[in-house]
Amino acid sequence: TGKALAPSDIASRKGGEPIVCLTAYTTPVANLADRHCDVVLVGDSVGMVVHGLPSTLGVTLEMMILHGRAVRRGLTRALMVVDMPFGSYEESPEQAFRSASRVMAETGCAAVKLEGGARMASTIGFLTARGIPVMAHVGLTPQAVNTLGGYKVQGRGAASDRVMNDAVAVAEAGAFSVVLEKIPEPTARAITQQITIPTIGIGASPACDGQILVIDDMLGLFTTFRPKFAKRYAELGSDAVRAVAAYAQEVRERRFPADEHVFADASASATGGGA
Ligand code: KIV
Ligand code: NA
Repeated sequence: TGKALAPSDIASRKGGEPIVCLTAYTTPVANLADRHCDVVLVGDSVGMVVHGLPSTLGVTLEMMILHGRAVRRGLTRALMVVDMPFGSYEESPEQAFRSASRVMAETGCAAVKLEGGARMASTIGFLTARGIPVMAHVGLTPQAVNTLGGYKVQGRGAASDRVMNDAVAVAEAGAFSVVLEKIPEPTARAITQQITIPTIGIGASPACDGQILVIDDMLGLFTTFRPKFAKRYAELGSDAVRAVAAYAQEVRERRFPADEHVFADASASATGGGA
């Protein structure tokens, strides 16, 4: 029943015990993540894993706020971070502040995350100077899938310098941590050693200060595609398929509902079943 972790608590974990992060989009999942994780991210991955969108580009501020409000109700200890969706922050620092302050006020989150390195540095500075802690996100930035030409590994070979520059830029701009997505281990290691804020890896090796996964990926609930980095800790998707098939069969065979699911008449209520 301690108090919730703040962005500064996460920042102070640099180089220490690994920071455990997970996404959540609903109250019950936030509740279970809160028991074991330091950071719960309401990711714009919600668009793909919950809403069936083909990419994160169609996610709106309203969707992030609705899921953010649900997640808020499930958390007591973990730091809650909400993703800024495509189109809600890139135009100017002022647009980013308007969107991010709305997200914070309407969801009760303590920080936001936005994609982009050097190009977003002035926006990150603008937000943090005005009371909005920012988690940055560099390397593979899925909202840029169309300009990147797919969900490819970033920062290999000569491109390593660009990702390093991006990470340095967001750290200097005042981000309290940075997600490194889909970059090779040497690049992730060099960045983690170079910058003074924690790096949170996804497909970025154990060299990072913390790790994050999409909850639906790690539970085996999202099966449209399977990123190499998305280790499955459970197979709830195939469990669910079996459950639905069993239900359908039992209904068709009139084996469900059984006696224990059926309400008795008032005259027989002494045996229970009134609930
Ligand atoms: O949207 C998301 O879930 C994310 C994490 C994978 C970092 O941005
Ligand atoms: Na995201």
